[in-house]
Parts: sequence; structure tokens; C-alpha cells
Amino acid sequence: MASITSASSLIPRALTVTCMSCGTVHPGDRALSDCPACGGLLDADIDLTQRLTPSHFVATRGSLEAQSGVWRFRQLLPPIPADKIVTRQEGNNPLYRDQRLADYAGLDSGQFAIKHEGHNPTGSFKDRGMTVAVSHANAIGAKVIACASTGNTSASLGSYAATAGIPALVLIPEGKISAGKLGQTIAYGAKVVQVEGDFDVALKLLRELTASYDVYLANSVNPFRPEGQKTIVFEILDDLGWEVPDVIALPGGNLGNTAAFGKALSEAYQVGLIPKLPQLVTVQAAGAAPFAAYYESGFDHYEPVQAETIATAIKIGDPASLARARRSIELTGGIVTSVPDEDLLDAKALIDRIGIGCEPASAASLAGVRKLVAQGLIAPGANVVGVVTATILKDTDTIVKYHLDDDEGGERRAFANRPVSIPAELDALKRVLDDAVHG
Ligand code: F0G
Repeated sequence: MASITSASSLIPRALTVTCMSCGTVHPGDRALSDCPACGGLLDADIDLTQRLTPSHFVATRGSLEAQSGVWRFRQLLPPIPADKIVTRQEGNNPLYRDQRLADYAGLDSGQFAIKHEGHNPTGSFKDRGMTVAVSHANAIGAKVIACASTGNTSASLGSYAATAGIPALVLIPEGKISAGKLGQTIAYGAKVVQVEGDFDVALKLLRELTASYDVYLANSVNPFRPEGQKTIVFEILDDLGWEVPDVIALPGGNLGNTAAFGKALSEAYQVGLIPKLPQLVTVQAAGAAPFAAYYESGFDHYEPVQAETIATAIKIGDPASLARARRSIELTGGIVTSVPDEDLLDAKALIDRIGIGCEPASAASLAGVRKLVAQGLIAPGANVVGVVTATILKDTDTIVKYHLDDDEGGERRAFANRPVSIPAELDALKRVLDDAVHG
């Protein structure tokens, strides 16, 4: 296990968490996933009296802070002892620009960038949160770490728990996660429990267990998970030379990431790193959009839904981080919207086609921005960053179906690329070559 040994790691700070509902401060040296006083969601406390400049994040070559795009932002993370940190050198992911994506979104030239979180060690943004949660679990001597998951959190936990040598227990909705994610989680050695029911049922069941048994819960209700995910925002800002974009768009499921992004922006602002906040745009799948409906009611009326979408990663009907996510949207004057599966699949197919690639849920960012530009809610001249949350290899079944099958109306999909079959004859192959060259 790697450890960090730079001057910043020697700064003594207290490890505490604060309830966002009642404001009670609790010691952070134990596993907590809700406030013992009132049941509210907890935030890890960060020293916001410090003044930071981008130069604080220039790491010494060869140090772990240079290798991990999470621990590089240590001043804005909870003070977990350096020798307890469990890392797989996550983060430091690419920011891509491609004119075809800006055109598709309806944005002006050069105004759309993709932050690709599929480049993390297990192929999704979850690794950024997991390095902090598992490091915390390691620091407090957790005997077992558990999560409920639609597949990416479970794969990430499997990997980080294995790195730390701590047993992992994961609950997944039976038959409802992609084969790639299931295989990954099994392979990393986690104890996989397939629960009859959906993600919401699995998380509820697990929270009942962790309320009365000594099991460390690694879902994003754990205040330390979002801390790592904050670094997606810090890294985007760093990629942009700390110039604040107009919009950061991301997919929304259990809403841990939306919660983390708002906290990151608030903290970056308070320590003096940025002079203003971008708008956060959270995009849900239309069949799993309770947060979008809540937003449309002016945050007046919330109702969980029975989730249904092809994007299994975000097939969640009752997001656990709802209150924290609402805070993020309100803080940034953000927008919550939803897109039908067809739009999500087309946006994904375009991201794939131009050579970048992502899993279906990830494309919600692009599909949502396109919708909001068309509605006039994002200006074509806005500078937009869309977060792509996982790699193309997470869900290959959906890719093959998209390209080989017609849509529900019997039409070929917008970006369908069908393989052809030929007899093993040169003439037949030449005809295919002709077609490939001349279109
Ligand atoms: N994109 C991907 C690829 C995801 O796996 C998830 C969530 C999200 C977006 C949504 O992020 O929950 O923070 O709003 N996946 C979780 C999991 C639920 O179990 O892997 P969120």
C-alpha cells in the first residue's frame, strides 16, 4: 500500500463530520452514514479558513500526490493519516474537446469538453470516492466494507478493498447490472449478494444491516465518499487553468456526485481558488428522474419512482443523496433535467463513434446539454464541461443491441454501424472494401 509523505500531510487537523440538517458536529474517527442526533446526511469537515492558490496543488515529482489526481488535492480533503491511504493512482483523467460533440450539443465552436472519468483504475468515477472511503475505513480499522450498487460502485469497492486487504460485501439488484460490472466485482474477490428487487431495495436492506452491525458502509451517504469525488471538479478547474466554465453537466442517479460537485465548488470558492461558481446541470434518465421532477416542482414536492431505463447505472428511483444534491443545485443556480433512453443512446453512440466511448449512463451529460441548448436554457456560446462517468467497456451488450437491432419503431438507429457477413472469398471482401472507402 502506498503512502503520502509530503509537507502537507503533516498539517494536523481534526477529522470531524457535520450534519447538514441539524448542524451537530461528530467525531470522524468512526463509521457514520447518517447523523446519530437527527438522521440527516453528513458532510466531512474541511478547513475553509485556509487561503489556497493553484500553486498548492503542484506536487513533487514521484510523490504520490503527483500520481493520484485525488490525493493531489489533499488540502481540501479530510485529514486521513498518510500511512493509511489506499490508492490505485486514480484521477488525472483527460479532458477531451471534439468539434463534433459541440455541434451535436448545439454549442459554438470549442465550447464543449468531456471530462473522462472512465479512465480511472476500475473504469468509473467511483474510484475517486472509493480511495477516500476505503482509506478512512482502513484508518479506523474496519473489519468489512459494504455497498449496494448498480455495478460501478461494487467494482470499485471490490478493487480498493482487495488492495487494502479488507473483505468487501456488495449487494446488487439481481439480473439488473451489466455482465461487465458483475464480472469485475466477482473477479476482485468481493462477496457478491444478488438481491431480489432493485437498487433502492438493496440499499435499504444494507442500511438496515449497517445500522445495527459493525459493517463499514461505502455508499455515497458515507460522508467520505463524496470527498474524493469532489476532485473531479478540482481537476476540471485545474485543466482549465482555474478559469470557471459556465456549466458543468453530469448524470444523476443516487446523486452522490451532484452532492460532491456542489461541495467542491463551494469550498473552492471559499478558500479563494475561484471567484464565481459554474451552473451545475444534473441529467437523469427519463424513466428514473425523481430529482428532475422534484426540481420542476420548485423543490416543493418529492416523490420516489419505480425506476426504468436502459442505463442501468442510474436506474434509481429514490436517490439517497437527494437533500445534498438539492443544496448543490440551489447553490449554483443549477438545472435538473431528464432525457429519454433513445436520446441517451444516440448521444452515447456519437461519443463512441468519434473514438472516445463511454457507458450509456455517462452520455446523459451530452444528451442533457443538447436538450437544454435547444430549449434556450444554455446559451450556444456557453463554455460547457460534460462529465463522462465510465468507460465504454462497462456495458457492451447495450452497444451490440444498439447497432444490430432497430429501434422500437422499426427504424435503424441514428449512428448504427452494422457488421457485415461475407463468404471467405476475395471478391466479396473487395466489395466491402469499396463500400468502406466510398461510403
Ligand atoms: N454514471 C455512472 C456510470 C454510474 O455508475 C453512476 C452511479 C452514475 C453515473 C450516477 O452517479 O449516483 O452519484 O448520481 N452508479 C452507482 C453505482 C449508483 O452503484 O455504481 P450518482
